[in-house]
Amino acid sequence: MATQPKLTPKLSIDRLVVELMALAQITEVEPPAVTRVVFGEADVRARAYVKGLCAAAGLTVSEDAVGNTFARWQGSDPTLAPIGTGSHIDAIPNAGLYDGCVGVLGGLEAIRVLQQLGFKPRRSIELVIFTAEEPTRFGIGCLGSRMMAGLLTPVQALALRDKEGRGLEELRAQAGFSESLDSVQVPSGRFHQFIELHIEQGPFLEQEGIDLGLVTHIAAPASQRIVIEGEGGHAGGRLMPGRKDALAAAAELILALESAAKSTGVIDTVGTVGICEVFPSAVNSVPSRVLMTTDVRDIDGTRRDSVLAEFVAAIQEVSKRRGVKIATELINADPPTTCDPAILAALEASATAAGKSFKKMVSRAYHDSSLVSSIAPVAMLFIPCRGGVSHRPDEYASPQWIGSGVHVLARTLALLAEK
Ligand code: GLV
Ligand code: MN
Ligand code: MN
Repeated sequence: MATQPKLTPKLSIDRLVVELMALAQITEVEPPAVTRVVFGEADVRARAYVKGLCAAAGLTVSEDAVGNTFARWQGSDPTLAPIGTGSHIDAIPNAGLYDGCVGVLGGLEAIRVLQQLGFKPRRSIELVIFTAEEPTRFGIGCLGSRMMAGLLTPVQALALRDKEGRGLEELRAQAGFSESLDSVQVPSGRFHQFIELHIEQGPFLEQEGIDLGLVTHIAAPASQRIVIEGEGGHAGGRLMPGRKDALAAAAELILALESAAKSTGVIDTVGTVGICEVFPSAVNSVPSRVLMTTDVRDIDGTRRDSVLAEFVAAIQEVSKRRGVKIATELINADPPTTCDPAILAALEASATAAGKSFKKMVSRAYHDSSLVSSIAPVAMLFIPCRGGVSHRPDEYASPQWIGSGVHVLARTLALLAEK
């Protein structure tokens, strides 16, 4: 068991809450809703705001070619790999203000608390703001951490397009990032260890009155883009027997995915169709084309893959029976993540020393930590969020919950930076 550092982090939660609120004002939509799509105007302003806070704390700020941002508190032995912490500040359309931002500004607050206590880390502590954890623009989650880990190559990244057909090259340049993307991948060992503070995005901690979740596993997500090509035509003139209605085929597939996810009989399997775009989308026209996405997750990768296989069989059957063409593109199929026992032990020791209650739990949402796990040991620290609500403007975490998370994060960073 790790020895606790001789410090009692004193938190300025007021300062942190003010900063979270200020960051939330930087949004593409009317507050309290937060929308910050990567490389959009709000994302660029939010980056500037957070970089300013990091510089004011005396951290050395740098960015890579895709906009991943690093704010380093130099340790007494700069030759040692740093302890990393952080998360993301992009936000899906109509989101809240805590997802990702608690891990970024909370990580910064943990560093500032340690600085104020006169703590001198042996290993450097590095705050990371990952680019585009959310898949909003390019359809793939964890863009920045995925590229850092080498799990999305520059060639693959350059092929990404947003809804308007704009590519990564154009959009990153617009946001001020123009170096070669080849420099984004980092070697294994770039971080000695990595910890991400985040809201739970589920109801259990609040329901059970527990201060903190120590994340042992992160679920394995997979997503696909599916295009169904049928035959359109006049809604009155095209009689039912000859129809190749792309939306009717999509409806069957949506239900097939739901049924495949339920068929495992395990609560950990989930399947969602979150996008379904109909062409030409007219009241009196038979849908000729549908674009839809699937998102399937499980903490067991094999079980997740069995759902995908069942869904593929449904696609083939529906395509044949309805005479529609169905093209599928796998966007990602990430493995589940197992968090590092040594970091979890340090988190447990820190929570105990801080007098905070905790439970071990799995993360059903995905996170940058999952991608970072291929280059460094990782763990996550969850705080409750009201009603389990996330990805909504009414997402809420109380100052007390955030304070507990930052307190334990600060202790843990101090502990790990000494080793
Ligand atoms: C991340 O936001 C996720 O969808 O889990
Ligand atoms: Mn999110
Ligand atoms: Mn998040």
